[in-house]
Amino acid sequence: MISYSYQVTLATAQKANWRIEDIIGGDKRLDFSQPFMPESLARVEQLGFLRADEKRVLNQIRGAAYLGIFGLVEEFILPFVLDHTRPQLQGDDYRVRALLQFAGEEAKHIHLFKRFREEFAQGFGHDCAVIGPPAAIAQAVLAHDPLAVALVILHIEWMTQRHYLDSVKYDQSLDPQFKSLLKHHWMEEAQHAKLDTLMVEALAAGRSASEITAAVEEYLEIGGLIDGGLIQQVEFDLDAFTRATGRVLNEAESGQFRRVQLQANRWTYLGSGMTHKRVLATLGNLSPAARKRVEEVAPAFCYAGIADEVDLRQAPTRMLCPALSA
Ligand SMILES: [Fe+2]
Ligand SMILES: [Fe+2]
Repeated sequence: MISYSYQVTLATAQKANWRIEDIIGGDKRLDFSQPFMPESLARVEQLGFLRADEKRVLNQIRGAAYLGIFGLVEEFILPFVLDHTRPQLQGDDYRVRALLQFAGEEAKHIHLFKRFREEFAQGFGHDCAVIGPPAAIAQAVLAHDPLAVALVILHIEWMTQRHYLDSVKYDQSLDPQFKSLLKHHWMEEAQHAKLDTLMVEALAAGRSASEITAAVEEYLEIGGLIDGGLIQQVEFDLDAFTRATGRVLNEAESGQFRRVQLQANRWTYLGSGMTHKRVLATLGNLSPAARKRVEEVAPAFCYAGIADEVDLRQAPTRMLCPALSA
């Protein structure tokens, strides 16, 4: 088991610290002749009926959604971290400073993602809707047990690590500006994921096995909420694709689009976090049953194994959260 320290994490965060002006603005522009997202997340190549330029447009639409969805999740991470910090301002000075550094970086990331969305809107020329509004989603998420919310945040921040290290870092085909965004975000998220582990451990301390089980079920409920959002996001992306390209897909093509893109979204925002080894290790430390529960539902949000005839728009949400879809 790896244990993290507030002092070491703070020192690393202070070294990484960058300014928004260093990343976007002036001659630092998005290049719309290039893809923005790695194929393992975008999965446009599976849509063989699209031309190369149409695949690139869809890839960029997925990039716009990534900006919007990350901006949105950061809007509940920021108040959560502040609320977690506020009751213990006395005591461990490194803890207070590390958590406030974390909150300050998330406020900066919210701003950064907004700046990229403005830049995207100017260059792309078509509106790309994103699920929301962020305040309503934040309210729904933050209504849950703080341990469940901390698990969601842990999931999101390790997931960001995985996106960059597994899919973005060595992909030379991506637009350098979009890649720079993902790299700089990853640099700071690397410290957040460690602080999330410490937050989860603090919130789980002293809880009984049944209380841990209940919190993990709430984590899965929030996953069900996100999954419902992703179903909607695929419809927004299909609409944006139609407007941006003028290509109207026939019934078979739009069915394939929805299946492939929903599974791509599920891997991007759910599966890649639920199966991250550090997320599973933290869950296993809370209770072996918690880890097993998440491992059992995770495959539905990963790469393979779901036949076309399964109604993907319903099945995994039911697995995550039977109460929501009963
Ligand atoms: Fe962030
Ligand atoms: Fe973060």
